[in-house]
Amino acid sequence: MKTIVIYTSQTGFTKRYAQWIAEASGADCLELSAAKKTDLSSYEAIVYGGWACAGGISKIGWFKGNMDKWKGKKLVVFCVGGSPADSPDIDTALKQNFTEAEREKVKVFYCPGGFNYEKMSAMSKLTMKVFVKTLKAKKDKTEAEQVMAEMISSSYDISNRKYIEPILQYLAK
Ligand SMILES: Cc1cc2nc3c(=O)[nH]c(=O)nc-3n(C[C@H](O)[C@H](O)[C@H](O)COP(=O)(O)O)c2cc1C
Repeated sequence: MKTIVIYTSQTGFTKRYAQWIAEASGADCLELSAAKKTDLSSYEAIVYGGWACAGGISKIGWFKGNMDKWKGKKLVVFCVGGSPADSPDIDTALKQNFTEAEREKVKVFYCPGGFNYEKMSAMSKLTMKVFVKTLKAKKDKTEAEQVMAEMISSSYDISNRKYIEPILQYLAK
């Protein structure tokens, strides 16, 4: 199946997953800006990867805006975030990025990435600094919030090639 993996990545985690998926499935791989200039009509499967941003998936509007044009193609979205794969909020967060009708046309996956403060934009760094400070100052923190506040205070990498397996299996179906 002729496949293309398209991605948006700020600090490299989504790019890494996109390259792993492309390499393992023999797909082409393009950054979103290049994909926008490319004719995608010959592809039978389109995979889009975006990083998680405040519960959203970065640049998902571009993907959703094109879905009608891609009727008949296999459509996959993977979201890469700082949350661990077993985080309880992931399913709900992913769901809210799509309407029920859209969810019937696209299969959505989550892959844990991490945080890389060295490569983050000044704006993202500032946003995270405020978020961490607010979370740490919160008096009635749940245990999960406590763990998260500590975790996202500095850079970490929880990405792993094993998380692409369900995506590869779906593409091979
Ligand atoms: C402003 C901001 C908001 C974020 N929001 C979330 C979020 O809601 N859920 C999550 O799991 N990770 C969140 N993250 C973490 C990123 O999704 C994570 O660092 C991801 O691995 C970045 O991917 P990239 O390296 O491809 O840019 C956020 C990061 C930033 C900077």
